[in-house]
Amino acid sequence: MSVPQLEDLPDPRGRHVLLRADFNVPLTAGRIDDDRRIRATLPTIEWLWQHGVATITACSHLGRPKGKPDARYSMEPVRARLAELAPGVELLENLRFDPGEERNDPAFVDRLVAGRDLSVNDAFGASHRAHASIVGPPARLPSAAGRLLAREVEVLGGLLQSPRRPFVAVLGGAKVSEKLGVIRALLARVDTLVVGGGMCFTFLAAQGHEVGDSLLEIDQVDTCRELLAGPKPILLPSDIVAARADGDDVRTVGRDLPKGWRGLDIGPGTAAEFADAVIEAGTVFWNGPMGVFEDERFAAGTRAVAEAVAACGGFTVVGGGDSASALARFGLDDRVDHVSTGGGASLEYLEKGDLPGLAALRGASNAR
Ligand code: 3PG
Ligand code: MG
Repeated sequence: MSVPQLEDLPDPRGRHVLLRADFNVPLTAGRIDDDRRIRATLPTIEWLWQHGVATITACSHLGRPKGKPDARYSMEPVRARLAELAPGVELLENLRFDPGEERNDPAFVDRLVAGRDLSVNDAFGASHRAHASIVGPPARLPSAAGRLLAREVEVLGGLLQSPRRPFVAVLGGAKVSEKLGVIRALLARVDTLVVGGGMCFTFLAAQGHEVGDSLLEIDQVDTCRELLAGPKPILLPSDIVAARADGDDVRTVGRDLPKGWRGLDIGPGTAAEFADAVIEAGTVFWNGPMGVFEDERFAAGTRAVAEAVAACGGFTVVGGGDSASALARFGLDDRVDHVSTGGGASLEYLEKGDLPGLAALRGASNAR
C-alpha cells in the first residue's frame, strides 16, 4: 500500500509547506538527550528547499501535556536545535498544548493548514495516532510522505512482505498485555520469536515456573500458554539474573526464582542462546530491552543481544526508544541496517500493516 511521495506533490516552487515531524525527543531538565528524530527529518527539509518552496512550517508534539500549555514541554529546546540544523524552518508550539490536537478537532486542523499550500508528513513515530496534525492536513491539502516516513514504511513493509529467512524477532520490555497484538502478528510471519525482558516472566509462569517477585501479569498467563502451544517456536530464558527485593544481593538463577527474588536481566546462558539465534538469522527485528539495562548490573543481556544484532549478517531492524538508546549506549547504532524512529508506531505497523497517518496520505487529493 503505497503513500504519495514528495515527487507526487504538485509543483512545490513558491509554496508554503506544513511539515508534521516527530520531534518528540527525550529531554532531561530542558536539554535534548538524543536529537536523532530531528536529524532524521533533514533529508525531507533539504528536498523541499531544493525544490524551491517559499516557507517550511514544522510542527510536532513533545511529551504528553494535557491539552494546555505546560512549560516543561515547551518546544524551545527543539527550536534551538532545529535552528542549528535547518536554518529558516519555522516551528510551531507544541501541538498538544491545544486540546484540538488529540481530539482531531476540525477547527484545529483549519488553523494548521491556514495559509499553507502543501502538507508533508514525516512523523512516522506519531503516525499511529489519529490526531489532528496527522490525519487532518492530508484531507485539506495536496500531501506527501517525507523521506523518513517513506523509508520506515519501506523497511517495515519489507519485513511483512518478503523477509529473508530465518526471520527472528526479539521482543523485550515490561508488559505482554501491551504487545499481544504484535506478538500474534509476528508469530504468523517469523521463524522464531525470542522473548526476554520483564514480559518473559508471564510466559515462564505459563510453563509452570516460579517467578518469585518478578513482573507478572497474572491475567495474561492463559494467553501466554496458548501462544506457547502454537506452531512457532518461542525461545524463553533458561537462566535469569535476579536481585533480592530487600537488598543488593544479585545472582544468576535458573528458570525458577525463589520467593523474594526479582528477575532483572536474562542470564549469561540465555544471552548466548539468544545471540546464537540472532546471529544466524536472515532477518532480525528487535524491540525492547532484555533487562533493566540502565543499571550496569542488569545490562549484560541487552548488550549481548545488541552485539548479536550488530554482528548478524542478515537484514537487521531495531524499533523502539529503549532498544535504540541501548544500541547508542553500546556504540552499535551504526551497525544495524535500520533503527526505526518509531516505537509504538513500528509495532502497530507490524501488527496491522497500516497506520492512520498512512491511510490519510493515501486519501489525499494528489494520491495516485
Ligand atoms: C513516541 O515517542 O512514541 C511518539 O512521538 C508518540 O508519542 P505518544 O506515545 O505520546 O503518542
Ligand atoms: Mg510512545
